[in-house]
Amino acid sequence: MKKVGLVGWRGMVGSVLMSRMQEEQDFAHIQPTFFTTSQAGEAAPNFGVDAGTLQDAFDIEALARQEIIITAQGGDYTKDVYPRLKAAGWQGYWIDAASSLRMEQDAVIILDPVNGDVIEQALNDGIKTFVGGNCTVSLMLLALGGLFKADLVEWVSVATYQAASGGGARHMRELVTQMGILRDEVAVELADPASAILDIERKITEKTRSGTLPVDNFGVPLAGGLIPWIDTKLDNGQSREEWKGQAETNKILGIQDAAIPVDGLCVRIGALRCHSQAFTIKLKKDVPLAEIESLLASHNDWVKVIPNDRDITARELTPAAVTGTLSIPVGRLRKLNMGPEYLAAFTVGDQLLWGAAEPLRRMLRILLA
Ligand code: HSE
Repeated sequence: MKKVGLVGWRGMVGSVLMSRMQEEQDFAHIQPTFFTTSQAGEAAPNFGVDAGTLQDAFDIEALARQEIIITAQGGDYTKDVYPRLKAAGWQGYWIDAASSLRMEQDAVIILDPVNGDVIEQALNDGIKTFVGGNCTVSLMLLALGGLFKADLVEWVSVATYQAASGGGARHMRELVTQMGILRDEVAVELADPASAILDIERKITEKTRSGTLPVDNFGVPLAGGLIPWIDTKLDNGQSREEWKGQAETNKILGIQDAAIPVDGLCVRIGALRCHSQAFTIKLKKDVPLAEIESLLASHNDWVKVIPNDRDITARELTPAAVTGTLSIPVGRLRKLNMGPEYLAAFTVGDQLLWGAAEPLRRMLRILLA
């Protein structure tokens, strides 16, 4: 059995990864060693196999004994440890949730239902570094994979509705705390059916603007509103999150020399862990809607075409319905007024599952096969 080192297994993405690995009985096929940045020597968690004690995540010799390392410890850890491990001559496989190595020449972005062929070619070429993609990009490609595979996409314009979990665990806590404070502010009025809704709104707005809501993570209040900016600003006016749309999509598809334009606005909303995205897609030709639906639906086992009807859309194409599942519903499919080559689509996906943890454990399984 392969020796697999696990780093960052206790954090939010790591916890989702451990839970998926248990569900899929991945631990039955590996010899795991759990690494820690703070509790070396303590008992390792038991996910069905005795893994002894926790090892120091900065111990290059201990890391170098692993044939495969999976890390969800974050970008700073990767930047520190990966070069040192490589410099020590380590020849193992590095599977990473962080973005630091994603665009490196000798790294592949992993999303095997979409780019299994690119991954296979990379393995044949001796590539050893495999990195999970940006969550919105991975979720878009799982939803729209059928159109990309059929080479029907001329360009994609996207507006995202991204959940707090994309920022991290503390961001989620902050959002829920803001929600609670705002609700408490109007508890008395809410309990009285005769109270005036504009009084409730005014109190909420005043509280939101009062400077008393916790905003250490988001910087501004998010509950009941949105923030139309995610990550840092680039020289061209894009946010880094927006830049990733095109850069990572084309790298995942292995078509960087004939890149498909993907651009739009990335927006943080008050969802907890599901990212949603609204697309305008310019097709290379006028394809009947029924054919589009069939291409989308048959692309992978997780995408599900939702008929463009109100009730089923409200029931199935929402974060409330999708959170905690691997399902990738795509709906609101219709041709736009701009012309028969212009397609609207909307998708929702769990940012911690397909958006982060799932591609990593699937890459492990590919290496074990
Ligand atoms: N950068 C993403 C976000 C999550 O902030 O929502 C990670 O891919």
